[in-house]
Amino acid sequence: MAQLEKNWHPKSWREKTALQQVDYEDSAQFRQALEILSRRPPLVTKWEIESLRTRLAEAAAGRRFLLQGGDCAESFAECRDYIIRARLQIILQMSVVLIYGMQLPVVRVGRFAGQFAKPRSAPTETRNGITLPSYRGDIINGEPFTPESRTPDPGRLLEAYQTSAIQLNYVRALSDGGFADLRNADYWNLEFAKRSAYYGEYQEVIKKVRDALHFAETVIPGPLSNLRRVDFYTSHEALLLPYEEALTRRDPHGHRIYNLSTHFPWIGKRTLNLESAHVEYMRGIRNPIGIKVGPGLSPSDLVAIMRHLNSDNAPGKITLITRFGAHRIEQNLPPVIDAVQRAGLAALWVCDPMHGNTERARNGMKTRRFNNIQSELESAFEIHHVCKSHLGGVHFELTGEDVTECVGGASGLDEADLSRAYQSNVDPRLNAEQSLEIALRIARKYQQMTSA
Ligand code: PEP
Ligand code: CO
Repeated sequence: MAQLEKNWHPKSWREKTALQQVDYEDSAQFRQALEILSRRPPLVTKWEIESLRTRLAEAAAGRRFLLQGGDCAESFAECRDYIIRARLQIILQMSVVLIYGMQLPVVRVGRFAGQFAKPRSAPTETRNGITLPSYRGDIINGEPFTPESRTPDPGRLLEAYQTSAIQLNYVRALSDGGFADLRNADYWNLEFAKRSAYYGEYQEVIKKVRDALHFAETVIPGPLSNLRRVDFYTSHEALLLPYEEALTRRDPHGHRIYNLSTHFPWIGKRTLNLESAHVEYMRGIRNPIGIKVGPGLSPSDLVAIMRHLNSDNAPGKITLITRFGAHRIEQNLPPVIDAVQRAGLAALWVCDPMHGNTERARNGMKTRRFNNIQSELESAFEIHHVCKSHLGGVHFELTGEDVTECVGGASGLDEADLSRAYQSNVDPRLNAEQSLEIALRIARKYQQMTSA
């Protein structure tokens, strides 16, 4: 039993310092919620997790490309038909653009069905002289600025589990039936995305894909049945460790231990260090794991953490999600790549062009500029190429809705537009139009890099 050899068990993180955890006033209710969770059925299966691991290893080797996207922070209120469908639609559209442009299969991973806990830089927030606990994600407390809503409530742990299950049920049904069928791509159209200057280019991609399918079905008579469905995997930041522990289960046959709340948990920037409880928890689970790599982390610390998390250097286990910002990537990424290469460690490299590019607009709202997002992505492709490494995926905060949270893009959203439809509770997301545009830009950059 690998885990026991490593002196690990699902509770061993409790012996370490766990940052960003919660002190519940009602600890009996908290224990009871965990007890209930630990008896609930899992949300995902070990077979799905194993297949994702294999696919991520293939992405690291350049044979697939990872597209990971969704909200910064999901909310219970947004577990709604239209919102879930629109998010899926935009990810499907982006993936067709990438598949066609890169001529590679795309691994689709949502930041959904569990992305409910947020690390915060400040424990409290002050408005008009009143100070309350910060909003920390719907699994912990509520966003409205009142003492009742901001007090951590253990009942939310169960609501997070249930909301994840409801969402997953719908996503699985949509990905399995006619909705995700490539031949129904018209059905994914989001009315407002038609305004985009890039919409024509997208329609051309769809037409070419359709012609290719028609050709294939002509030469291989009968429908290409595996085009009817797509695989969607889920991911979230595994921040609230008692919740993750309650859904961590031993496989009765293989003896491996899996986090069955999601396929692909990640460790955020604020809880990443060799001694952290989060690293300790992740060390023993069989799931592939993401590591957010930002400017504060030294390349040598990253190497030590990777060795600790993946002692047998198995491919597919570790995904490095770099998030330096458009203005820092040139300086920060090459030494990290160099250190990982010198240490001979297996990793899938992914660029998160969102979290290093957050800024405050003049009206105080958090925003991100499309130009900076595009620039960080393009730099990532170029730097990996120069370093004889490989960018195997991208990570976005996005929504299928017509929000105004990030500025720029073909529709020219500016700061004055932000207050029109700003809905995110935490970080600003690309809207559907901006998401489609960035996918077309990525495909174009990839073609340029591979034909160079
Ligand atoms: C996030 O992905 O929402 C996040 C908080 O990222 P990071 O840990 O990279 O800051
Ligand atoms: Co975020």
